[in-house]
Amino acid sequence: MCGIVGYIGNNDSKEILLKGLEKLEYRGYDSAGIAVLNESGVSVFKEKGRIADLRSIVDESVMANMGIGHTRWATHGVPSKDNAHPHQSATNRFTLVHNGVIENYDLLKRDYLKDVNFVSETDTEVIVQLIERFVNEGMEVLEAFRKTLSLLIGSYALALIDRENQDTIYVAKNKSPLLVGLGNGFNVVASDAMAMLQVTNQFVELMDKEIVIVTKEKVTIQNLAGKTISRDPYTAELDASDIEKGTYPHYMLKEIDEQPLVMRKIIQMYENDQNELRIDQEIIEAMNAADRIYIIAAGTSYHAGLVGKQLIEKVAKIPVEVHVASEFGYNMPLLSEKPLFIFISQSGETADSRAVLVQVKEMGYHALTITNVPGSTLSREADFTLLLHAGPEIAVASTKAYTAQIAVMAILAEVTAKSRNIPVDFDLVHELGIVANAMEILCDSKELFEHISREFLSVTRNCFFIGRGIDYYVGLEGALKLKEISYIQAEGFAGGELKHGTIALIEEGTPIIALATQENVNLSIRGNVKEVVSRGANPCIISMKGLEMDEDSFVIPEVHELLTPLISVVPLQLIAYYAALHRDCDVDKPRNLAKSVTVE
Ligand code: G6P
Repeated sequence: MCGIVGYIGNNDSKEILLKGLEKLEYRGYDSAGIAVLNESGVSVFKEKGRIADLRSIVDESVMANMGIGHTRWATHGVPSKDNAHPHQSATNRFTLVHNGVIENYDLLKRDYLKDVNFVSETDTEVIVQLIERFVNEGMEVLEAFRKTLSLLIGSYALALIDRENQDTIYVAKNKSPLLVGLGNGFNVVASDAMAMLQVTNQFVELMDKEIVIVTKEKVTIQNLAGKTISRDPYTAELDASDIEKGTYPHYMLKEIDEQPLVMRKIIQMYENDQNELRIDQEIIEAMNAADRIYIIAAGTSYHAGLVGKQLIEKVAKIPVEVHVASEFGYNMPLLSEKPLFIFISQSGETADSRAVLVQVKEMGYHALTITNVPGSTLSREADFTLLLHAGPEIAVASTKAYTAQIAVMAILAEVTAKSRNIPVDFDLVHELGIVANAMEILCDSKELFEHISREFLSVTRNCFFIGRGIDYYVGLEGALKLKEISYIQAEGFAGGELKHGTIALIEEGTPIIALATQENVNLSIRGNVKEVVSRGANPCIISMKGLEMDEDSFVIPEVHELLTPLISVVPLQLIAYYAALHRDCDVDKPRNLAKSVTVE
């Protein structure tokens, strides 16, 4: 979702801003723009479409030592050049980029800006027009900025430049992510560290309702009351090569292939010197103090949460509920007496999850975040964090973060069980090692999955995934992967549920992908397959060694039955990948989607 960059220093800013925006492409966007400021004034370049389109219209001859840039994922107003950021005030004195949603923008227009001619349909333009209005009334720029912020209801990360001042970028944040990066003789602004790793790895986190005055020599953080706040920078532990595709045609394929490595890394990060898995004592105490766990998440992370429920209930014997974040805030179930909330989020920035976190913290409950991004909002604001150690995930369709989330929840379940003296009849380190090896075998079978994808999905308009128990949850994720990137309408169903309505959609040739990795339901899921086959469906059965039958399309290696999602999802990820490729879809940047959804 929208991304922001800014640079102020001694070098030409255009290339730094454009490169920064390219690193933010993974978040999802539909237009982009930059504004640079030099002694001749502000030059704004913006375009609908990709950064490559923006690059082609940027005037190479304009040299400027400061500027701001933006990738926009449309919320208020269609994707268009007019609605793309940066936006400017009526006299073009102020230029602004914004990430977030201003809920009261219509009201502010009516109350303060009746006479202003708006050029865009965005909520953002209200902010920049308000600043100019207050400056015209005699306020200093900083005061006008502050006054404007005090009127805004909603979420924002902002970077503002003033034509009359080539020394400063004004920055502010509330609910939407934003960092300031520190350099020698320059400073930068970015939605995430990846965007500016090209120039620095030193970053300062910003808290909600803070303003930052950024010059090339200095970064001054203030609260809305104008009080200066000091905060130490941190070193972003990212390797620039982590965010390169290397020889891979797509990030998604690279990230699928990285899964065995991620499993081994997770074991290494959670093992102590005695080769035992360990988790911070205070997290285990919070688990043990809970009478019920509420897992809150969105999208793929929600699907990982469903598997996490099975792991925690079966291994640690604590009841678990899993909820979609965007529903939970408004539709809260009756909570148990001693709940513990677990937020699962690859990015750690999902606004729907964050809204619930704020709510449950206000209610006085403890929260644990499981995330891939250290220092992300959900990590900072929860009581505890468990990291995925999966390395940056750039493709919008989540793959390695899903399997990492499940592996970390397996570890949490195992360590909690042991602390409660509940016998665990498997050695998780050993089992995760087997999983890593099995993943490698699957990643080496790409040709076969390409073939399956061509055979089952090349002409279809829809596809159904079925499974029972834990396989059902993996089916939901398989369907999400397929629809996200190939635009084939895909749905996951519990094997027994399909006949209660959806079977009406089965026609001659409708592809059904069935998972059969659980011994106790092996025969019943095969019965469900027969029901659809006799109505014309084209079945692709993926089973596990030991449960296989002649009609199966692929047999995955045997792993512990609670860990099968880590394996059975890999063929589904690869089948979705090839389906998207065969349809010439933009695999890493599917239409309409954003990687980091920072609006509710
Ligand atoms: C977006 C992405 C999904 C992701 C979901 C939750 O919708 O497109 O791939 O699963 O957000 O993201 P999170 O970062 O909280 O796991």
